Amino acid sequence: MARLLLRGFEIRKAYLDSAAQAQLIEVLRPILKSAPLFRPVMPSGKEMSVRMTSAGALGWVTDKAGYRYQPQHPKGMGWPSIPDPILDIWRDLASTERDPDCCLINYYGEGARMGLHQDKDEADFSWPVLSISLGDDALFRIGNTSRGGKTESIWLNSGDVVVMGGPARLTYHGVDRIRFGSSKLLPKGGRINLTLRVAS
Ligand code: SIN
Ligand code: MN
Repeated sequence: MARLLLRGFEIRKAYLDSAAQAQLIEVLRPILKSAPLFRPVMPSGKEMSVRMTSAGALGWVTDKAGYRYQPQHPKGMGWPSIPDPILDIWRDLASTERDPDCCLINYYGEGARMGLHQDKDEADFSWPVLSISLGDDALFRIGNTSRGGKTESIWLNSGDVVVMGGPARLTYHGVDRIRFGSSKLLPKGGRINLTLRVAS
């Protein structure tokens, strides 16, 4: 379980063993049933290639009206609560003072990616964002706290956890590509990324 620091991001390689990863997939199953993945649309009108949903009091959504957190799924129902095994990871690596109010669930199918961006829709940047990788490998790119400049990339594997906080809280990051089919965790392949956020 190596701990790496890359541009201020703390990368916990293999934080979750295979049993813990399988347990997370089990607790995510009912969430995906009651709050199904949807295809988000950016304010520009372009669709994102990931599909997403959330758990927690607030979920992150985007559509033509913009990026925001809201208490309902786009179809109108409330988000399911964040399961304890996921909160345990936050309490171990991020904080025991306050739990996250959003667990954003991104699903990367074949060809999905995420452009370089900052996570900046939260009210208070003193809380970190914690990212959990499950399933296929992803090439994760880390930039700077402002747009442009050199970047560095690292492959994230299933079970890796990244803490994006402190001076790196607003560092640009994204996923260039996944290696579809590289993991057997998800029966149909692909990658799930969970990000835990204190949004409000
Ligand atoms: C994100 O930045 O929201 C997702 C990062 C990832 O998929 O690893
Ligand atoms: Mn992000």
